[in-house]
Amino acid sequence: MVSNVYSKSYINTSVSQSAQSDIILNTRLIPALEASVSPSRAPHGIDVHSLFCAVAMDFISAYCFGIRHSSNFIEDKSHREHWLKLYTTRKGYGFFAQELPRLSKALQYLGVSLTPRWVHATNRELEAWCKELSDAAIQGLRKSGLSLNSADDPVVVRTLLAGYEKEKDMHGQDSPVHSTTILNPELSVASEVFDHILAGQETTGVALTYLSHHLSQSLDLQKDLRKELLSLQPNMVLNYGRMAMPGPQQLHRLPKLHAMVLETVRRYAPAGGPEPRVAPFPACRIGPYEVPGGTRISASAYNLHRDEQTYPSSEQWDHTRWLGDKEAAYKQFWGFSSGGRMCLGSNFAMHDMKLTIAAIYSNFTSYIVDDRGIEQTDMYTGHPKSNSLHLRYERILDL
Ligand code: HEM
Repeated sequence: MVSNVYSKSYINTSVSQSAQSDIILNTRLIPALEASVSPSRAPHGIDVHSLFCAVAMDFISAYCFGIRHSSNFIEDKSHREHWLKLYTTRKGYGFFAQELPRLSKALQYLGVSLTPRWVHATNRELEAWCKELSDAAIQGLRKSGLSLNSADDPVVVRTLLAGYEKEKDMHGQDSPVHSTTILNPELSVASEVFDHILAGQETTGVALTYLSHHLSQSLDLQKDLRKELLSLQPNMVLNYGRMAMPGPQQLHRLPKLHAMVLETVRRYAPAGGPEPRVAPFPACRIGPYEVPGGTRISASAYNLHRDEQTYPSSEQWDHTRWLGDKEAAYKQFWGFSSGGRMCLGSNFAMHDMKLTIAAIYSNFTSYIVDDRGIEQTDMYTGHPKSNSLHLRYERILDL
């Protein structure tokens, strides 16, 4: 129902997405970086991991709910920190609900919880927050009709509701989702969009953090990237405090920017953990193996991305491995998975990561202030151990 609005061609031509990016970058991110430039106001630099998780959340929630009803985590630091704390503290407690859902539910019915009770309370708070934004976006649509082509357009919510209506018209009570989605459209929208919000926030934040960490270690790399960014027409250099938004096609044609983002998702696969699947009955062949139906198997981006034959010196971050014709490297790239359950938001993520990096490095130079704990955790969504990275930015004025 909704994959169309996450396609490359839709994102590239979406006036709403472009208007939302303009607001997020020009009125929120750039002022946040400007504020960090002065050592007296930000003696320890700025924690970019927290900031990039905020940028990612503002991008994806604006696309889902429209800018008016979305988060403003970049500016609202206290709400952002509260939200991130809830999100990260409950992160390690997904095992029983995910792997033993029936047993978990049955025991819960008997008053026994396999997961600490505060985790349930935290999940409920996050869900309620998402439901509130989702309901507001739906109300907004119902009141004002479809606000297409503007920053307020809740692209994803609007598309889901239209999909539910179509399903209702075509299949009515025979629809397999009649008793769930069609009878409860508001709850269904909130539930679906909650997946997008959670899947699109930390992953994107992690990638932006590691890419900025690499860029901040080399002024030459930053210069090289900036040279490429200046070829955009219009480019993203601030002009009287504002920058122009480049055409997305142009942005995606920049080979170095593309290579740097891709290499970061390879080396630091933000969703690098196992992706389990169940082999279909009666059996299936996977490479040299005959796998009996019902067997649970998995692969992970972390491992595939460390295949030395395809990615020599695989532990090393080296964006040049993506420059030129690199068919084998692309074939084995699994940062967004593949097949029917691959990442729904891969094009969106590539787009918002490129836009964010382009906005920053067209205008600023970055330096590391404190990168202790930057090593990636061994979790499904591997984040820096310290959950932070402190950088200092300097405005480039000699352009
Ligand atoms: C750098 C950023 C991102 C990375 C590395 C990433 C990675 C992944 C991976 C590896 C999967 C596959 C899981 C599997 O095979 O079972 C996945 C699924 C998914 N992703 Fe992303 N993702 C990113 C950003 C986003 C964004 C921005 C969205 C926003 C819509 C999103 C939405 C989803 C959803 C909804 C799924 C589940 C798809 C399904 O099961 O049908 N992701 N992501």
